[in-house]
Amino acid sequence: MSAPPAVPFAVEIPDRIPKERYFDPGFYALEAEQLWPRVWQMACRLEEIPGPGDYAEYEILDHSVVVVRSEDGSVRAFENACRHRGVKVVQGHGTLRSGFTCPFHGWCYGLDGANTFISKKKSFAGHNVEAGDIDLVPVRCELWGGWAFINLDVGAPPLRQCIEPFASILDAWEVEALRTEWWYSFFLPVNWKLAQEAFLEQYHVIETHPELVIPGRFAPRDRAAFDPGTFIEGELRYLHVMSEGMGGMVHANDVALAEAQRDIVLSGDPTEAMATWHRSLNEAVVAWHRGRGSAMPDLNELEAQGINETMFYAFPHTFVLPMYSSATSYRFRPLGPEETLMEIWSLTRYPRGHEPPRPTPPVPMAHDAPGVPPIPTQDFSNLPRQQRGLHNTGFEYMRLSEQAEGGIANFERTIDGFLAGLGHDQLLGALRAVNVNPLERPVVDLGF
Ligand code: FES
Ligand SMILES: [Fe+2]
Repeated sequence: MSAPPAVPFAVEIPDRIPKERYFDPGFYALEAEQLWPRVWQMACRLEEIPGPGDYAEYEILDHSVVVVRSEDGSVRAFENACRHRGVKVVQGHGTLRSGFTCPFHGWCYGLDGANTFISKKKSFAGHNVEAGDIDLVPVRCELWGGWAFINLDVGAPPLRQCIEPFASILDAWEVEALRTEWWYSFFLPVNWKLAQEAFLEQYHVIETHPELVIPGRFAPRDRAAFDPGTFIEGELRYLHVMSEGMGGMVHANDVALAEAQRDIVLSGDPTEAMATWHRSLNEAVVAWHRGRGSAMPDLNELEAQGINETMFYAFPHTFVLPMYSSATSYRFRPLGPEETLMEIWSLTRYPRGHEPPRPTPPVPMAHDAPGVPPIPTQDFSNLPRQQRGLHNTGFEYMRLSEQAEGGIANFERTIDGFLAGLGHDQLLGALRAVNVNPLERPVVDLGF
């Protein structure tokens, strides 16, 4: 066995992150070698491949994987390379009418990846067309929550073990009933970790998103000064900003239900008033969706179990942000040491049998394009400035708040675990520590 690689620019002090991790080509190459081929990656939404023969290509670094729906409804993944001379057998999204046909010389494969046809087969020496050696190379593929995940590592633990407790929490929230309402993507001129870390803490909200800081929403220091009317106005304003500014993080249907309870009578005690407001809105959302025939968990029951947070993360690149009935989801993929593809989905609930059609993959927008919703625009405007600032010789490392930015420290140190070549048994503990709500999460012990 070869010695594990020494991790350059390792995080030695948990709340200090060396800047080279965000642009050094050698560090990026080590991630390509030790991280990406060893992790479960959200490859596509299942509604991208609703019927037999439907496929979605997932690209990560140099790898292209095709995820395809079989005749029996199961989902499989293969390396997207013809066994003859390596041409990608598919490109993008589409539907295969009769298996895969390579566009170069016409080799064919079934939806199960088995080679079904080689033109002029007799012209090849036997050793190049041996049965069993000419099928598409399978890639591990497992489903959870409405997504297909792939893993290039045959030795990795099953998906579910690697995405806990994220998966159990979101199962309770019935995430698998969600469907894509819209889907955008953006090119960000920054390292993928830097992009992701803009969403791993909320310390930036006061300065970057001042419109989200609405004083009337919180109990005043002098509790006797609490005014239920001001609270309701503040709460409604917040929901509108989250709905419009985030491009639908709170679904418009839920905002309308909140507006409908504008005249609710609340106690003068802030704790009681806030609890009544949230309980009543939860009830209205649940009743509205169930009334239409949509699968919808009891939000008040979830609250009682402590499941009421609005952001969950699954290492290395998936976020789900549930609010009331719906959720936003993010995925970040590296395109180069200083370039990232970020995608945002708006996911919501539809009555059974009335799900929307197969979503169309988005054409990526520039980070400063006019169509980007206002709140991500604010985040995106900081990111290129940060990426440039990191290159200054006088700047050596990021100094994190141990309490407010611990999510970043935990994420970066988990990466180091992969880069150091630790075994999956050791890495599982770190994954459990990071696959949670990263906001206001302190630095934690990862077990290595
Ligand atoms: S490369 Fe696919 S048939 Fe030749
Ligand atoms: Fe933000």
